[in-house]
Amino acid sequence: MLFAQITDLHIREPGMALSGRVDTAGFLERAVVRVNALSPRPDFLLITGDLIDGGSEAEYRHLQRLLEPLAVPAYLVLGNHDGREAFRACFPDLEYWRPDQKFVQYALDLGALRLLVLDTHDPGKSSGALCADRLDWLAVRLAEDRDTPTVVVMHHPPVAVGLPGMDRLRLLEGAERFAEVVRVAPNVERILAGHLHRGVTVRFAGTVLDVMPGAAHQVHYDSEGATPLALVMEPPMLQLHRLVAGTGLVSHKLYVDSYGGPQSFG
Ligand SMILES: [Fe+2]
Repeated sequence: MLFAQITDLHIREPGMALSGRVDTAGFLERAVVRVNALSPRPDFLLITGDLIDGGSEAEYRHLQRLLEPLAVPAYLVLGNHDGREAFRACFPDLEYWRPDQKFVQYALDLGALRLLVLDTHDPGKSSGALCADRLDWLAVRLAEDRDTPTVVVMHHPPVAVGLPGMDRLRLLEGAERFAEVVRVAPNVERILAGHLHRGVTVRFAGTVLDVMPGAAHQVHYDSEGATPLALVMEPPMLQLHRLVAGTGLVSHKLYVDSYGGPQSFG
């Protein structure tokens, strides 16, 4: 089992740049090329939210076109910049999620690995929420199987990580119960998240929270919260997760773009 992850695409309508200068569509095009060229090719691509920037159907249609060249299935996750109703309208026939469901949550039973995808979107807010409905769903899914290595997938990190500007926008509603639900499931191998536009790893509720840098722009590192949130053009990344028998999920962070090489050490 090998899968790739990218996050925080922030796709806008065709021809529209983010903040007037970030060509997020161009970044996604390059990420798709990179994923398609990986050898061995991953089984699927997980995209952990902020698929689009403004929550509109036009942006989701643009995203669909940009993902057409992707050679592997994509599993989509909602973030704060997404729009649940626009998503519902634009993705009526996904194999893994039905639009009659209230939230974009789903379980992927992949044999040796299980993914439980959560919907932390809280309309009108940049922070995230997991209400009782969504947390009940997670608790039931985890109780079904306490053995298979399981990855919990969500856009918003559920804990502060020392970035005051972004920590204010983390999962706020439901974070304590989320930790309780995860803590009693020893087979939660990892929590995969995005939202921060930075790479952060932290122990959480008996497992590991793994936050990916974005696939386009990043957020300026400011551990003191001294400056307003600002974007920074640090390199886009993807992550490649492999389930290794006897070890667990082994994850490699790769750059989307090429920076020269490989070159001989000699
Ligand atoms: Fe984002």
